[in-house]
Amino acid sequence: MAEINAAIIGGSGFYEPGILADFREETVTTPYGAAVLTLGKVDRMAVAFLPRHGRNHSLLPHQLNYRANLWALRELGIKRVIATAAVGSINQRFTPGSLVIVDQFIDFTKQRPLTFFESGETNRAHIDLTEPYCPELRHSLKAAAAKLGLAVFDGGCYVCTEGPRYETAAEVRAFKILGGDVVGMTAVPEVVLARELGICYANVSIVTNWAAGISPHALTHAEVVEVMRNNQEKLRLLIKEGLLGMAQETGCRCCGR
Ligand code: HPA
Repeated sequence: MAEINAAIIGGSGFYEPGILADFREETVTTPYGAAVLTLGKVDRMAVAFLPRHGRNHSLLPHQLNYRANLWALRELGIKRVIATAAVGSINQRFTPGSLVIVDQFIDFTKQRPLTFFESGETNRAHIDLTEPYCPELRHSLKAAAAKLGLAVFDGGCYVCTEGPRYETAAEVRAFKILGGDVVGMTAVPEVVLARELGICYANVSIVTNWAAGISPHALTHAEVVEVMRNNQEKLRLLIKEGLLGMAQETGCRCCGR
């Protein structure tokens, strides 16, 4: 098969590649453990698909082996990743069903391995994350949405919690004051690890619910999966178009240029 050009990391409710043709499963062994991926094609582009929580959603956000996943993508020579994530909304403009191409995050995780750097590599370890999401990949997703006539929000701040519980109403009020727009449990450290490896990374967040205290009812995972299911087709179309519209050469600084 041709060089793998890009990868999709599917979040909650996005467990099957859907848009991949001629696909096969592959296990990649890394120093951090194994990662199971599906390798296939989107038109003539070689694409890997990684369901973040496993096919049956057997892994919770705090149990995910983010390092094995990202390392495996690098082993496959992948330079660009489009990730999806289900999120609760803190921003009144982002109603359930909205797609948000996030551009910032605030990290409230507590106990996850956050980095590939473990010893005194000071110069390399302090990476710049002023702009954590790749501007070029974000641009291809926005252009893809325009082409498809799909509404997307350009930019939003993803607050990442440790989970697996949902938030308290007070936490959500605090996140709003801090500038958060959506809340989820998986953005970090995935985006950080991608940047440490010089991989361009974008995140399309799908609003599945109003966040705790804004929602008129108690939050459930069933609600999240149901809204994801109803929106998965437009998400697939967006990602496919976004992948096909990517520029051949990157001019961004994600790879540390
Ligand atoms: N909070 C955290 N994670 C989530 C939510 C939420 O409201 N919705 C979907 N994932």
